[in-house]
Amino acid sequence: MSYIKINNDNLISEIIIDRPEALNAMNSDVLSELTDAMKKVKSDDKTGVVIITGAGDKAFIAGADIKAMQQMNAKEAFDYGKAGQQLTMMIETSSKPVIAAVNGFALGGGCELALACHMRIVSENASFGQPEVKLGLLPGWGGTQRLPKIVGVGKAIELITTGKIINAEESYRIGLANKICPQNQLMSESRKLASSILKNGPRAISSSLRCIHDGLTMSIKEGMDIEVEEFGELFRHDERMEGLTAFIEKRDPEFRH
Ligand code: CAA
Repeated sequence: MSYIKINNDNLISEIIIDRPEALNAMNSDVLSELTDAMKKVKSDDKTGVVIITGAGDKAFIAGADIKAMQQMNAKEAFDYGKAGQQLTMMIETSSKPVIAAVNGFALGGGCELALACHMRIVSENASFGQPEVKLGLLPGWGGTQRLPKIVGVGKAIELITTGKIINAEESYRIGLANKICPQNQLMSESRKLASSILKNGPRAISSSLRCIHDGLTMSIKEGMDIEVEEFGELFRHDERMEGLTAFIEKRDPEFRH
């Protein structure tokens, strides 16, 4: 893999997108390498939490590759859109939490990739935007669907129809960013968040993610049905006994990841 690096330490896998000459913009090669990297960490026993970030201190991902898109016909654009959507679906439905460590520009497809992650920790110089309409395009990797769910319909329509770019403060204010930190603390803050998740039961975490994700497209009744099924299901596994017993014995639980 030439555009993607994976580092693994203490159950945390960091996936780094490294294409500095194009501010980490995602051409088909980056897209397919990132998809392979996600598949790898999803099935890897040594991964409990995934962090996705961009190399360098300027860009997370500056979007889909504009130069490549200039050469595409409708069929190729459809396939490129589909590949980006499949990647963002794979991230969103991951049973392991995925954190976007947004270290700079997260524009177009880069913003959409961050939206698909479960949480976003951002550096002070981060910025977000869906500037596709400025190019005569629309967000094609899930932005029209995920942005309204995260920031509300009115704000999403404003961002998508104006194509304006917002800074880290604004992204935090509208609920896009979970936390802002100085750039030199971005990875340590993201790892700290990952470590606090890793203290908890992995089965309980993945069941919670499933309930939240599936519930977003269901009625409250259907969502509650799934929740109670998953709640009961947890009682078939040792993990819950360790958690409950540790509380009663006044000690920290030791969950196996
Ligand atoms: N695709 C291809 N190349 C890109 C790129 C992109 N999305 N973004 C930046 N680059 C390239 C530039 O062309 C430039 O390369 P050259 O030196 O060969 O000209 C290099 O990266 C550095 O970029 P700039 O000189 O423009 O850097 P800057 O600091 O002046 O500006 C920026 C930074 C504001 C992010 C600007 O590069 C920019 O506006 N980029 C495009 C952002 C964008 O519109 N993204 C959405 C793409 S469409 C999309 O993503 C569709 C979808 O939903 C799937």
